Amino acid sequence: MGLGTQRRRRIADLLATPVAGELAEATGWVRTSRFSKNVAFVHLGDGSTPRTLQVILEAGDAERLAARLGIGAAVRVVGRWQESPGAKQPFELVAESVDVVGDSDPATYPLQKKQTSLEHLRTIAHLRSRSNTHQAIVRVRNALCDEIHRFFQGHGFVWIHTPILATTDCEGAGELFHVSAGDRPEGFFGTPAYLTVSGQLQVECFAQSHTDVYTFGPTFRAENSQTPRHAAEFWMIEPEIAFATLDDVIALAEEFVRTVATRVLERCAEDFTFFDTFLAPGHVTAVRSALQAPFARITYAEAVDILVASKRTFEFPVGWGESLQSEHERYLAEEHFRRPVFVTNYPREQKAFYMRVDADGRTVAATDLLVPGVGEIIGGSQREEREAELRHQLALRGMEEAPLWWYLELRRWGSTPHGGFGLGLERMLMWLTGVSNIRDAIPFPRTPGQAAF
Ligand code: 4AD
Repeated sequence: MGLGTQRRRRIADLLATPVAGELAEATGWVRTSRFSKNVAFVHLGDGSTPRTLQVILEAGDAERLAARLGIGAAVRVVGRWQESPGAKQPFELVAESVDVVGDSDPATYPLQKKQTSLEHLRTIAHLRSRSNTHQAIVRVRNALCDEIHRFFQGHGFVWIHTPILATTDCEGAGELFHVSAGDRPEGFFGTPAYLTVSGQLQVECFAQSHTDVYTFGPTFRAENSQTPRHAAEFWMIEPEIAFATLDDVIALAEEFVRTVATRVLERCAEDFTFFDTFLAPGHVTAVRSALQAPFARITYAEAVDILVASKRTFEFPVGWGESLQSEHERYLAEEHFRRPVFVTNYPREQKAFYMRVDADGRTVAATDLLVPGVGEIIGGSQREEREAELRHQLALRGMEEAPLWWYLELRRWGSTPHGGFGLGLERMLMWLTGVSNIRDAIPFPRTPGQAAF
């Protein structure tokens, strides 16, 4: 039922409850139309389902409206259900009245019947949600966000709204968008301000008061990387749990990813059939089978050994202390394990200041989750809960304590071992659907040199 009107029902709802001989009213946009002398077949879509509603127009209407019912036209139809002789749909609507609400000139309509390339669709991001592929991506993204909240709410986590305007660089990587207003050197706040790269530091405050918490919102990184996996603006889900170690963080991440992925695959089954057929043949089948087995778990040192033993020629060097690059991550997940794999205990120098230093002093209690086809989708860790050690880590990196005074204070009263992770929403969507470029996984992508619309 459409809210705000007792009469308008969406096509998904109409197609679920057809009764032969009864009247129904449908609204939507023409996806395809076919005219012959005495009859016209018009397929309407409204975004609520990948399926379309077939409307039959008989002689008079067909001739009168032929010119106005081309692709893209917005229409309202009142008609009577009849069983369809066609194999594609069990029922169709025989029109009794057709109202063209918004005309669309098929000659200039930018999305023609043939599938236009994803690259071309990026140049018309204001219209691309009308294409079959983006219609499906948008529905799956919506279901994914809903299932993420359901998972955490169902497990008693408290949703915390961390700020978008930040005063610290959580990851310490310097990839910050600076926020300025007014003409004072310190800008609006009297202190430097940035768009947040992560809500983690702030959500940690609430883990020390509410135990199990999460934040979910947009995050921003000014990294100048033109890869298919990096965006300057993306959404991140960050749970944080108190009285917890790295093992607890990994157990939560695995249950979360498996549960949410399984539910979304079920809930959007028709959309996934579309992806598996047209977008990335076989991909969804592979994701489903990867979800059957437990995820693999190895240390960074073991990952390096596997890469060395592979005898592969990689573009970037392999060895203890070298960063795992995307090609290495994908080799591990796609070829070696063929399923998601947690890599743990990375060298301290490679990771952020807040990660808990391991007993050997060389590595930290960190984990990344790597998946086939994408690489890293999660980064997380147990946090350094010892104040003195945290100060030491800041000093080693040449970072100032002053802006982080409040973060250090969390360690002073009732400090607990705690940890959490960040999941990139678009990366998860890429993994599930087989979309290979992050620019197609977010409605209006922002990447270096591109922020149109
Ligand atoms: O590994 P990252 O940088 O971790 C953090 O920000 C931690 N503070 C999270 C935490 O422990 N609460 O980022 C986490 C995830 C990555 O694994 C990736 O999925 C995604 O965020 N991500 C990006 N997604 C798209 N574009 C980018 N530029 C991204 N950078 C990170």
